[in-house]
Amino acid sequence: MDQETWTAVDGYLTKKLIPPDAALDAAQAATAAANMPAISVSPTQGKLLELLAMTLHARSILEIGTLGGYSTIWLARGLAPGGRIVTLEKVPSHADVARANIARAGFADVVDLRIGSALDTLPQLAAEDREPFDLVFIDADKQNIPAYFDWAVTLAHAGSMIIVDNVVRDGDVINDDTEDTGTQGVRRFFDRLSTSALVTSTAIQTVGVKGYDGFAVSIVN
Ligand code: SAH
Ligand code: DHB
Ligand code: MG
Repeated sequence: MDQETWTAVDGYLTKKLIPPDAALDAAQAATAAANMPAISVSPTQGKLLELLAMTLHARSILEIGTLGGYSTIWLARGLAPGGRIVTLEKVPSHADVARANIARAGFADVVDLRIGSALDTLPQLAAEDREPFDLVFIDADKQNIPAYFDWAVTLAHAGSMIIVDNVVRDGDVINDDTEDTGTQGVRRFFDRLSTSALVTSTAIQTVGVKGYDGFAVSIVN
């Protein structure tokens, strides 16, 4: 099996399970038109995020890495009534595109988009008096995944879910000598999970339109 098959099967699954959607399609078109990278979650992954948010009856979600807001819109759809999302984005031009996409999807009042490096905005968030997050989706720069994960645990509660994207990286995750700083971050993250008593975790390999990758899922103990 190769990329062509994975892409075709993702196309089939998307056609069967995910009806054409004006807001999501417009978000992807605007992200591409702004020459931003095509690294959003896929439609089937986005819908999984929605379903997980629904399962958790999530009222508060934290996303690290907004890009054009495609995953943000999926997460927003899974929120319980009255729920809110905080999403963190470093690049102001990405945030501009995301803000417009999120507004077009009808979630302007649901999403709190904060511009800045997440290593700066997370401590600010932690200093605020707010309810803990029910779901955290980590999808920004990969070298900082261990730090983001620690903040996620801090900002969560027992039973919260933490999802980390891009943890397989074409299999590079098993390369002890990798020079990819992103993979190094993922490996430090798995080192942490392997000894942490704070969370119960698994990770799943995936293939599809985005190639061969995977995500890690943890529940806070
Ligand atoms: N979650 C998005 C894709 C995110 S791509 C989706 O699925 O639709 C990763 C994003 O993280 C990019 O927009 C990038 O600018 C942002 N990013 C990179 N480093 C960051 C940092 N240190 N703090 C916050 N955001 C960062
Ligand atoms: C990249 C980042 C992602 O979050 C992703 O899902 C795929 C690729 C990247 O930076 O190349
Ligand atoms: Mg990703």
